[in-house]
Amino acid sequence: VDVDIEVVNEVTSDLVDAFSRLLPQLSTSASPLDADALSVIVSAPASTLLIARAGGEIVGTLTLVIFPIPTGIRAWVEDVVVDEPARGKQFGGKRVAETLTAEAIAIARQAGARTVDLTTRPSRIAAGKLYERLGFEQRDSRVYRYSLL
Ligand SMILES: CC(C)(COP(=O)(O)OP(=O)(O)OC[C@H]1O[C@@H](n2cnc3c(N)ncnc32)[C@H](O)[C@@H]1OP(=O)(O)O)[C@@H](O)C(=O)NCCC(=O)NCCS
Repeated sequence: VDVDIEVVNEVTSDLVDAFSRLLPQLSTSASPLDADALSVIVSAPASTLLIARAGGEIVGTLTLVIFPIPTGIRAWVEDVVVDEPARGKQFGGKRVAETLTAEAIAIARQAGARTVDLTTRPSRIAAGKLYERLGFEQRDSRVYRYSLL
């Protein structure tokens, strides 16, 4: 069984089902996504929603955001999650999260992005190892958030 990465262009019922499984594994506070909410993401020009399939089943997702700003075209990787049973596993010699992230980097490069940024909490051990293995370097920068909700 191989792992295949797809850019989501349309919202199907298996996508909605997959997000009902995957989103709680990423955030306990995130609101569930119905088909309309997923359509908003899929049709947003800056957002590229990727899914990973192994044996036809959706086993992971990543969202790439690409946007032009005065210092150049920049990209962010957000909301990376692999379904628990598929974590740490290889499909056709490829790991799910690694393959998703490598595809995001390739798409960002193709779009002319200068950098791909992401943040991850120190408690997310597997995520930190994954990103460092792929060549992401830690920056000495303060991450701020102004919460509106
Ligand atoms: C982060 C995540 C996508 C990585 O997927 P994965 O299948 O575990 O990825 P990998 O198999 O490539 O494992 C990554 C590394 O972490 C290690 N690892 C996995 N779980 C671990 C754990 N609980 N403690 C310590 N190391 C762990 C793996 O052995 C591997 O190490 P290596 O790079 O030295 O080989 C997945 O763990 C996940 O979905 N986590 C919950 C959501 C999340 O944290 N998302 C990231 C948001 S930034």
